[in-house]
Amino acid sequence: MATRKDNPYASDAMPVRRQFASDNYAGICPEAWATMESANRGHAVAYGNDPWTEEAANLIREIFETHCDVFFVFNGTAANSLALASLCQSYHSIICHELAHVETDECGAPEFFSNGTKLLSVEGANGKVTPEAVERLVKRRSDIHYPKPRAVSLTQATEAGTVYTPDEIKAIWAVAKSRGLRIHMDGARFANAVVSLGVKPKEITWQAGVDVLCFGGTKNGAGIGEVVVFFDAKLAEEFDSRCKQAGQLASKMRYLSAPWLGLLKDGAWLRNAARANDMAARLEAELRKIGGVKVLFPRQANAVFADIPTHAVDALWKKGWLFYTFIGAGGCRLMCAWDTTEADVDALVKDLKSAL
Ligand SMILES: Cc1ncc(COP(=O)(O)O)c(C=O)c1O
Repeated sequence: MATRKDNPYASDAMPVRRQFASDNYAGICPEAWATMESANRGHAVAYGNDPWTEEAANLIREIFETHCDVFFVFNGTAANSLALASLCQSYHSIICHELAHVETDECGAPEFFSNGTKLLSVEGANGKVTPEAVERLVKRRSDIHYPKPRAVSLTQATEAGTVYTPDEIKAIWAVAKSRGLRIHMDGARFANAVVSLGVKPKEITWQAGVDVLCFGGTKNGAGIGEVVVFFDAKLAEEFDSRCKQAGQLASKMRYLSAPWLGLLKDGAWLRNAARANDMAARLEAELRKIGGVKVLFPRQANAVFADIPTHAVDALWKKGWLFYTFIGAGGCRLMCAWDTTEADVDALVKDLKSAL
């Protein structure tokens, strides 16, 4: 059923189909479902002391090729907010892009969970924070009245559907290191970035200066849950208590962790991301051929942003398509998921062409 929030013409009579509104619209992928099912046997120790949680945490260490501290939480807002809170005192600030999810879509949760740490947002082309912008904000003031920057938050892949290269992250790290800032990465679409860049996970995290990663599972094919991965053990101290206080310690933790086994053990996480990215590439290629439609950002992951004439947006809505028009820098956000098919893309493109 379509919702009125995403489409003013929504009604129950509209077809149930795969949509382009969000990668959160997709269900659970078979691999994640299977391992969750296999964890649903008898009793298991609660609060994370179960074999699935241990195995999933070990797999994450294997994938990042380093020791890291791993915490399973329910969603991305909690992961980001609690991770950021662990980097700062309440009187500090966090530098992020003006389009960052932490700035625009978390209802003030990062400030709330950090008892008031302020977000300082910066502009930047293609949804990216630059080293210059970080430097500028750090140097802007040094007096007691200014909320001293203590962390930089980067989203990988960004809210504009682009990705930071290892060199871009390292350049931000160079400034961060010299100015005493920690680096947080919102990796709600981390898998899509890894696939897009063709890098090892370590190359865009700890080897590039990232202190804590919020590793997204939900958009990648899990049902619920993200993982907070600390590459600096010191920062992870008492994070378990922070999670508990925030209502983020799952008692039946195996149901949060077991899907990660399905995602990670045979590479489903990368296959899922590759499919979503490929479908976005197909969609981008088609949109670029259509006069009157303008692709707004370089398409580097699983999102395509496009300026589509209002009458065509209206016609697509009337046909039951759902997509957001208020995210990012305007335009329509067309998001592909792990289960998007060529036929889905072609059907949308066909309806768009006839609308124009
Ligand atoms: C960039 C980004 N970060 C984090 C999240 C996680 O948000 P949620 O709290 O809905 O899981 C999202 C979800 O849309 C996102 O797009």
